[in-house]
Parts: sequence; structure tokens; C-alpha cells
Amino acid sequence: MKLNWGMIGGGEGSQIGPAHRLGAQADGNFNLAAAALDADPAKGRAYAQSLGVAADRAYGDWREMLAGETAREDRIDLVTVATPNATHYEITKAFLEAGFHVLCEKPMTMTVEQGEDIVRTARAAGKICAVNYCYSAYPMVRQMRAMVRAGEIGKVRLVVTNFSHGHHGDATDADNPRVRWRYDPAMAGVSGQFADCGIHALHMASFIVGDEVEKVSADFASTIASRVLEDDAMVNFRMAGGTVGRLWTSSVAIGRQHGFDIQIFGETGGMRWASEQPNQVYYTPVGGRTQIMEKGESGLCSDAARLSRVAIAHPEGFPLAVANIYVDLAAAIRGGSSDGLPLAEDGLRSMAAVYASVASAKADGAWTDARPPMFR
Ligand code: NAI
Repeated sequence: MKLNWGMIGGGEGSQIGPAHRLGAQADGNFNLAAAALDADPAKGRAYAQSLGVAADRAYGDWREMLAGETAREDRIDLVTVATPNATHYEITKAFLEAGFHVLCEKPMTMTVEQGEDIVRTARAAGKICAVNYCYSAYPMVRQMRAMVRAGEIGKVRLVVTNFSHGHHGDATDADNPRVRWRYDPAMAGVSGQFADCGIHALHMASFIVGDEVEKVSADFASTIASRVLEDDAMVNFRMAGGTVGRLWTSSVAIGRQHGFDIQIFGETGGMRWASEQPNQVYYTPVGGRTQIMEKGESGLCSDAARLSRVAIAHPEGFPLAVANIYVDLAAAIRGGSSDGLPLAEDGLRSMAAVYASVASAKADGAWTDARPPMFR
């Protein structure tokens, strides 16, 4: 039996909408049954119907969708929230309280308090609130995680990660409305680039190492003078178990495209993965040669094998990483394990790290507690 799926945001021409539609429907787990896709109600209704949503479930806005779906016997099992950041909290909270499972885009909320409220609300409702840290669902990231957690590179000393692209590096384009909002506190919150991209890298570090980020020391810069929020950040961090972390995130690194990579260095080996070559992991045992591990080869961990869709050497990319989030969500909704699924607790940790980094940057890089108050 397919699960009924609803979507809010991700309308025609949006950046992330197509990846969710491809991802959710890739494995036959979910059927797009209801939607409020656009800030413009008429456009949202029309686009939903063009995607096959029935006219009475092609809603003009999310409140209408909440009322309509709550009243139905065949109500949606899961709703994806893919609207701009400032609306995530209100929509996610309302759907959780009404008894729906939610997949929320990152950043989950605008503040730490809102993040704690979402964690409490999901727990009280007994519903899954997942957050789309989709890079953690690439098969070879799962391979890296399994090897690191099995001790194959020994105790982890150091994590170095970057999420630095150059797509907002043109000062003459800084007033383009699709770029400007990301550096406007009213629309983006307290942080620009770190909250947009840096939190993916920080989540990935914890996801692979299996340890929480305890404190941060940050240096933020607005390299384009008209920007209020940072477009470049260097964030040093320490994990609870002592692992040293270095994170660089930037949107002005002209020439870098997606620019997300992570290296993990342990006492007996090192590993690296990059989102632009997502099918390979490089593994070097201490004193030994570097080995390239390929998605789809024999002998990978069961999680990496399970999440590989096409045969070895054939490309596999971003929409299928998003699809892997939906595979795990469908299993969790059907009563299975939620191991590996990024949850509201992860969304909250990111928000706490964003606030700690902003405070640290204002205090000349002073080390600042990055744990959410409710987890201290
Ligand atoms: P976008 O600006 O390209 O598209 C936003 C869509 O939401 C538009 O269709 C717009 O009409 C619609 N919308 C706006 N307000 C709405 C409302 N109140 N109700 C219904 N629809 C509404 O934005 P983009 O880049 O797709 O980002 C959306 C979210 O996804 C952001 O939170 C962003 O951070 C996140 N994102 C996550 C990525 C990931 O790797 N996990 C990658 C890209 C974006």
C-alpha cells in the first residue's frame, strides 16, 4: 500500500521542489495526494493539478490544506515542508500537532527556542519530524559512517569539512531578489551562509563520527559590503569526545561549484568524500596506499548496498539521495527503525550551533557552548 504524501512549497521553478517529487515517488512508497505548492494560491492549485493532484486536494495555502486533510479519512501520512526558512516552524508545528508526520527542509527553524519547541511537539504527538539533511543518505556516506563507527580508522582525531561555492560571489548580482533574501536578517534569521550550507557540513561531521558538537569558535565575514549577514565563515569546533573540527563555508568562492566535502582523520587511517564525486570514498590506512571504494562494489556495508540504486560505475546523484531519505521515512512511518534518518533533534542541534557561532563571531572567536539548552 502506498502512503499518501503532501507537499507545501516547492512550486513550479523552485530549487528543491523537483528533488522532493522525484525522491518521494522514486520507489513507489508515496503518492502525491495533496499539495499547497506556491505562495500564490492560484499558481499553486494549477501546478498541483498539473502534477496529478485531485482538484479538491490542490490547496491554495497550507492552512486550507491542514483543515482539508485533517477532515479526511484518507488523510496524508506525511507532509514535506519545502517553503522558505521563515515559515518552517509555524507549518511544521501545526501539522505535527494535528497528528501528521513531517519532513521539514533545513534550517528547521529560525531560533533555538523554536527548535526545542519542535522537538517537544514531535515527541508529545508521537510523530516523526525529519529534517532533510539529504547528503547523509548518499550510499558512500553511509559506507564512511559504517567504517568510522566500526573503528576502521581508529579514534577520530580530526574532521575537516567545506561547503563553499561561488554562486553569490558576483557583487553586481547581490541585489537579485533570489540572492538578497539569504543575507537579509528578516528573511534568513541570524546567519546567512552558515545557516544555509554550513549546517549540512556540521550535521555530516556528527553523523559520520557519531558524536555531538560541543563548542564552536567562529569567524564570520560579509565580503560583499552591502550584506548584513555573513557570506563566508570559518568555524572551528570540538566534539564531546575530543575530536577537532574545522569547517569552512562560503558563497563567494568563485570557481567552486557545489563545494561540499568531508575528510575524517583517525589514529589508524583517513577517509574523504565529496558531493561532486558522490560515488567514491577514498580510504588510506596508516602507512598504506590510498584505496578508492566505489558505490555498487561488493563488500560494502549493508546500508550502502541497500541505498545504491544502479549498478557499479553508473552515476547516482542528488535526487536519489533525497529518495533515500524518503525510503527511510516510509520504513519509519510503517513502524520500522529510524536509524540514520535525520530528525528534529538534528535540526535543533544545527540551530544551536548557528546561534553559538554567531555569538562567537561577535566575541572575536571566543569558544562558545554549541549544545541546545535542553540537551546540556
Ligand atoms: P525557492 O525560492 O526556489 O522556492 C520556494 C517555493 O515555495 C516557491 O515555489 C514558493 O512559491 C513557495 N512558497 C513560498 N511561501 C510559501 C507558502 N507560504 N506556502 C506555500 N508555498 C510557498 O526556494 P528553495 O531554494 O526551493 O528553498 C526552499 C527550502 O528548501 C529552503 O528552506 C531551503 O533552505 C531548502 N533547501 C534545501 C536544500 C537541501 O539540500 N536540503 C537545497 C535547496 C534548498
